[in-house]
Amino acid sequence: MDTIEAMHGRRSIRSYRPDPVDRGVLEELLWAAAQAPTPPISGAVPWAFHVIEGIERLAELGRRAKQYAHDHQPPGQHWAWTERPEFKVFWDAPAVVLICGRRDNPEAAFDCARAGQNLMLAAHARGIGTCWVGAPMPWLSSPGVAAELDVPAGFDPVVAMLLGQPREMPAGSPRPRPAVTYASPPPLARGAESISTKPTARGGAFT
Ligand SMILES: Cc1cc2nc3c(=O)[nH]c(=O)nc-3n(C[C@H](O)[C@H](O)[C@H](O)COP(=O)(O)O)c2cc1C
Repeated sequence: MDTIEAMHGRRSIRSYRPDPVDRGVLEELLWAAAQAPTPPISGAVPWAFHVIEGIERLAELGRRAKQYAHDHQPPGQHWAWTERPEFKVFWDAPAVVLICGRRDNPEAAFDCARAGQNLMLAAHARGIGTCWVGAPMPWLSSPGVAAELDVPAGFDPVVAMLLGQPREMPAGSPRPRPAVTYASPPPLARGAESISTKPTARGGAFT
């Protein structure tokens, strides 16, 4: 699938077939997710990919996450979804991937978000549905939960991504073309031929 086609065609999936996601496919998708760019701050890998499988298990975890959010709403906010009976935190998906950021890396959350976008597009290209879910995050970030779920020590869940075979592809709401603004050309703009496009000797590496 063409990358731009994938970007336009991807939709959040909230209805899944019960089949588990094939391990080989899952690992291919996570490898693609890990191709996301990371800033050259340190050599340390900023993320950990942690998989939880099983519809029943996830449904039970989802109930706990929903109850936790209901009982811990930030002052002045009302999360109406915590009271809607039909709202499911994990939408009966057979698998969820937690992309977890290294706690001592202040950039890690951005890295995880870029990996999450890669994961959604890679999955879509392989016919696997995804839905990025923020609903479980308050619970996942609460004391003891990450450890209970075997998240590697030193990492915190940043992204929760559902994966599974989609039952249907919703029309969704493709976004219109965005407004774009352009800076005025400088008064003495030179021709494009004067701009060097030669790669640097270091292959463009930024150090
Ligand atoms: C950070 C984030 C959190 C989200 N949380 C939820 C969620 O908790 N439950 C849900 O069903 N969808 C969730 N979504 C999906 C959005 O509702 C969805 O992306 C949006 O409606 C646009 O639809 P599309 O993804 O089909 O283009 C979330 C998306 C993002 C990026």
